Amino acid sequence: MNIHNYFFKNLKFVAILVAYFGIIASATAADLGKYLRPGQVPQPANNLSTTQREELGKMLFFDPRLSGSNWISCGTCHNPALGWSDGLPTAIGDGQKILGRSTPTIINTAYIPLQMWDGRFRSLEHQAIGPIEDAGEMNQNLDKAIGELKAIQGYRDAFEAAYPGEGISKKTIAKAIASFERTVVSTDAAFDRWIKGDTAAMTAAALRGFKVFEGKGNCVKCHSEFNFTDNGFHNIGLKDARDAGRYAIRKVKILIGAFKTPTLRDIALTAPYMHNGTYATLEEVVAHYDRGGDEKENRSPNIKPLNLAKGEKHDLVEFLKSLTGEALQITFPQLPQ
Ligand code: HEC
Ligand code: HEC
Repeated sequence: MNIHNYFFKNLKFVAILVAYFGIIASATAADLGKYLRPGQVPQPANNLSTTQREELGKMLFFDPRLSGSNWISCGTCHNPALGWSDGLPTAIGDGQKILGRSTPTIINTAYIPLQMWDGRFRSLEHQAIGPIEDAGEMNQNLDKAIGELKAIQGYRDAFEAAYPGEGISKKTIAKAIASFERTVVSTDAAFDRWIKGDTAAMTAAALRGFKVFEGKGNCVKCHSEFNFTDNGFHNIGLKDARDAGRYAIRKVKILIGAFKTPTLRDIALTAPYMHNGTYATLEEVVAHYDRGGDEKENRSPNIKPLNLAKGEKHDLVEFLKSLTGEALQITFPQLPQ
């Protein structure tokens, strides 16, 4: 039998083979596609980003004069050198007061529809004024802050360039800060290079960890898609959790002790973890999930003991580390005198 005859006799088999591998290849590509970075950072129609808006927002973000003490800026707690967080279990605000919750990173917060651990703000614009006025955080009277900004020629010019004719107001301050925050996005990590086809980008352990993440660990149930969050609220059974969480905003029983699923982007940079900063390392976080959490009352049905082997826990941590990219290059703004 010559080779042609052999081929045609087995054509059906070849076709099945081609179809089979085709399906596997396309299924994997489609599955991984959901982790790809969206084409654009979302922005509201009434505050489209411009360079002037982003630059003004950056000045305001790093200007301690926005605080009552003139000591604290947004960047004090959301510090670029500490993964846009502060490295503390819970934040320290005005007058060195220790606050009740940990400082979340603001990396990729532009992709998140509801801001804060309990989701109480519906946009970055709504959120931005909160910390300035909050007695615990920056403790500043907003009218006083606006007066101070108006007295500075450099700010008058910067506001006019960013929001012509709109002046210096609560609205334009909030819009400018939000525009800057939309530039604080994650860079490509090993995982992103891998899903885009660089087969050598991930270590073997991280790849095995990804399988655990999507499979036995069931992490993907809540930490989904590009930003590794479903933007939902869940009680994961943390010990001694006294904070009502989302329940304070929406009085539904399942929301008692429920907090927003945080992004896992750049997670290696933002320890300690959880809304109360209770875990110092990713190993401790994985151990928490492996034992199915601690507090049983009102815990999400998706949190239950996983019985992971020692190697699987190690691999899962390696996978989490593969979601951390190069730190965003940031030049600090010249603050107008
Ligand atoms: C004293 C430390 C501190 C300062 C100063 C501070 N923040 Fe925060 N920030 C926090 C804490 C703590 C939270 C979480 C609070 C909560 O969920 O109740 C937070 C939450 C946020 C969030 C929500 C992120 C998310 O993913 O939900 C954004 C956005 C944010 N801050 C931006 C700012 C801006 C803008 C400023 C300056 C105007 C600022 N912060 C000043 C500590 C601080
Ligand atoms: C039921 C939804 C759900 C599942 C399943 C889940 N998580 Fe979470 N995850 C959350 C929520 C909600 C938080 C924040 C909880 C809090 O602070 O009270 C969180 C927090 C974290 C944090 C800390 C992030 C930070 O910035 O503080 C890490 C890391 C993490 N999860 C990894 C995992 C891994 C790994 C798995 C799988 C083993 C997993 N999660 C499964 C919802 C979930």
